[in-house]
Amino acid sequence: MTAAPTLVVHNIGALVTCDPTHGEPGIVSDAMLVASGSEIIYAGRGRGALFPSPSADVVDIDARGAAVIPGFVDAHTHIAWLGDRSGEYAARAAGATYEEIARDGGGIRRTVQSTAAGTVEEVSAAVAARARRMLEHGTTTVEVKSGYGLELGAEMRQLDAALAVAGGDDMPDVVTTYLPLHSLPEGDREEFLAEVCGPGVREAAARARFCDVFCEEGAFTVDECRRVLVAAQRAGLAAKVHAEQRTNSGGARMAAALGAVSADHLEHADADDLRALADAGVTGVLLPGAALVLGGPPPPGGRLLAAGATVAVATDCNPGTCFSESMPLMVSLAVATAGLTPAQALVAATSGGAAALRLADRGMLRAGLRCDAVILQTNQWIDVAYHLGANPAGTVIRAGHVVASGGGVPAR
Ligand code: NIG
Ligand code: FE
Repeated sequence: MTAAPTLVVHNIGALVTCDPTHGEPGIVSDAMLVASGSEIIYAGRGRGALFPSPSADVVDIDARGAAVIPGFVDAHTHIAWLGDRSGEYAARAAGATYEEIARDGGGIRRTVQSTAAGTVEEVSAAVAARARRMLEHGTTTVEVKSGYGLELGAEMRQLDAALAVAGGDDMPDVVTTYLPLHSLPEGDREEFLAEVCGPGVREAAARARFCDVFCEEGAFTVDECRRVLVAAQRAGLAAKVHAEQRTNSGGARMAAALGAVSADHLEHADADDLRALADAGVTGVLLPGAALVLGGPPPPGGRLLAAGATVAVATDCNPGTCFSESMPLMVSLAVATAGLTPAQALVAATSGGAAALRLADRGMLRAGLRCDAVILQTNQWIDVAYHLGANPAGTVIRAGHVVASGGGVPAR
């Protein structure tokens, strides 16, 4: 160890590394975690003897036997929105479907109306409030999509609003995604697509890493989505697809053929779709909160793993189908509804999320990676999945620095 330590977490009962070289979920007992700056320089057995007298400039934390996990990587969210759709939630409970509400002028279009008119500062304040709640639940990296701007300038403002939050000391790391095909355009469809494929992807390439599309009956066709994603890839954006959420529409096979980074939702994917994703190295992103709220089949977590695919779990936090900032809740739902074991779900919410964002520097606790970690308020890591609706996150460490400290200890 040549670099000087700047952060030491000792007396860890269970260091859950999510590193497959240690098994699944890769537990090291009686462990310590050491960082120098933003990087892990040691993650393994030890009681602090390596650092008998930490100097004043080393932050030294006694975990008191608690479990420590990697920070969650929430790889699919729509948190850049303004306005309120709680009425639709009640209407669906009373029998209206998501599609009926959209046909009546509600749904994504309603959020476009309230968001597109907002300034960068207004949207950014909304992103910051939600991102902060995510951090307090243990999320150290969050992906944020546009998709509520529709018109090009408003889409860029949404991306700028998300970027304004990135880098904040009290915020998760932010990764942005341009989602131009989400709400249907009101004017000429061909003109809209041509603008997205030209100036849209060019301007987005300066603000985002990914381009996403909503491939679905009543939204955009496979041909339209392919055309936009090919243009996006040429502009340097990597592809993501909302696929097979409400019907089997061909989005997953298109994602595989284009070499997309991820295909997300997948509730209506069949065995051939899942095999195609696995063969093409496309990460399958499960969004069990949205599946639960909308009803219908559960996300195919167990089936994706059996097909050999990498699996991620994310919140999909948005005003229509899943208003939740909590990755621990999504881990619980992935176990209860999507066929994952608690260990598989935790790995999917950390290293799986990193794969869905092509971030090779995080998602596991291993020397050389970023020190993004959560000291839980329990010595049983399984509580992340087992204790439904609780917030097990205690101290949250992002890039080697303490950025949040949890409240009361969740009872057991
Ligand atoms: O991932 N499926 C499309 N987009 C979101 C819902 C967005 C909304 O209803 O505002 C989703 O579920
Ligand atoms: Fe989504």
